[in-house]
Amino acid sequence: MTTRTRTIGVLSSCFLAASLGAQGPAASAGAHGASVAAAVAPATGTGGDAVTYTKHIAPIFQQKCQECHQPGSIAPMSLLTYDDAKKYAKRIRAKVAARLMPPWHIDKTVGIQEFKNDRSLSDAQIETIVRWVDAGTPMGDLADLPPAVKFPDPNRWQLAEKLGQAPDLVVKSLPYTLAARTQDKWFRPTVETGLTEARWVRAIEVKPVRASDRKIVHHVLAYLVQDEPEVTGLASTAHDHQMNPGLFMEWAVGKTGQIFAEDAGKLMLPGSRIQWEIHMHAIGEEYKDSQVELAVYFYPKGFVPKHRTVLTMFNMARASELDIPPNEKTVTQNFYVLQAPARLENFQPHMHMRGKAMSLEAVYPDGRKEVLSAVSNFQWNWHVNYVYADGAAPLLPKGTMLSFTAWHDNTAENPNNPDPSQWVGWGDRTVDEMAHNWIDVTYLEQDEFDKLVAARKAKTAAQKVTP
Ligand code: HEC
Repeated sequence: MTTRTRTIGVLSSCFLAASLGAQGPAASAGAHGASVAAAVAPATGTGGDAVTYTKHIAPIFQQKCQECHQPGSIAPMSLLTYDDAKKYAKRIRAKVAARLMPPWHIDKTVGIQEFKNDRSLSDAQIETIVRWVDAGTPMGDLADLPPAVKFPDPNRWQLAEKLGQAPDLVVKSLPYTLAARTQDKWFRPTVETGLTEARWVRAIEVKPVRASDRKIVHHVLAYLVQDEPEVTGLASTAHDHQMNPGLFMEWAVGKTGQIFAEDAGKLMLPGSRIQWEIHMHAIGEEYKDSQVELAVYFYPKGFVPKHRTVLTMFNMARASELDIPPNEKTVTQNFYVLQAPARLENFQPHMHMRGKAMSLEAVYPDGRKEVLSAVSNFQWNWHVNYVYADGAAPLLPKGTMLSFTAWHDNTAENPNNPDPSQWVGWGDRTVDEMAHNWIDVTYLEQDEFDKLVAARKAKTAAQKVTP
């Protein structure tokens, strides 16, 4: 089987091949997962303490698994008890050692590693789980068992508790009934927001109204539609680059929403509307009156954040073209040059069933190159939004080239591939492909950018000096 490299555009892909390896970041992740499992010491004897469920495993599952693995939440089985854990031990070992569960598929060997929403396991936690399964899932002393955790309603507004307030505005789509058996459907209703004054948005969250509808709602886009004769009150001239409301928020299983950086937000004007695009996938059961909804959390009245943040689609499939032959792996690239200094707030690859990996490399105006992020083990049913921590979000000078690379695997090696004998091209359906990345870009003014960079340098230097 050959690896086909398809380079579109003006630049050669040589530097990426050099920095990530010809196989793409996937190769390094596979090796990483394997080395964790291989390095595991025996569960008893000289390798360290015996691992037990009550003392070691239950606390990890409470912290990293049970929110999803409990009745009524999104996972297929519950992991609340010892019996559950024992029953699924083999599968747990496999998923955890391969870093497929918890769903956090960023490559840990390259790029930025500080995120606001990191839910991954540490290497030590993975080792503990693997040792426990290999030792035959010992129960341990009941006295060690931590009390059960009380989880809130899994279908609640999750940002409400983070922000300590209920949503200020909830906008629902119109209801849609999806037949038991039908092709994928795209429902695109437009609804009024009912807003009567201009407000700056601090956070947005999207979800299906009913938890059960997560089984059929593949993906939701919510565009903000409003007349913007002149956006007033903006503190920065850097906003010439973002004079339209664009995409408001995007949802897929694994992504709930986003709280914007403290100095940034989105602007909603009176008379604004939400134009929905709800992509549904039938699963053999009729779903009556399916609806999605979005919650908006405003900044206090009168508050104007310095920046207007814009969710931007960086598309590797130029002109909606992808060419993925049967039984082949392909590489596709695209490049964007920043017209102003900018901060990138997150990294969120979007591909479908043949999606394998995606990376973002910055090529700085002085010629330096740096991989900012890579997802090397992409899982099409998880659209994880990796939100950079405040001190880690990349600050990029004007003229930086963002170099995006997407890998598709249309061979039988890809366990998610429904049919390696099919040619695959760009398209909306789940069995078609896409290759883009949703990134919230905050453009900065030059002097502000210089100050932020200097502040970061000072902080790093201080950390190095401290003993
Ligand atoms: C954000 C929610 C979430 C978290 C956190 C999470 N899971 Fe999952 N898990 C799911 C969903 C949804 C599925 C089914 C879809 C899939 O496999 O991707 C799943 C599938 C699995 C499976 C495969 C089940 C099967 O039928 O083969 C295993 C095993 C598993 N999870 C274990 C874990 C363990 C162990 C943890 C914690 C260390 C964990 N998960 C954390 C949501 C989650």
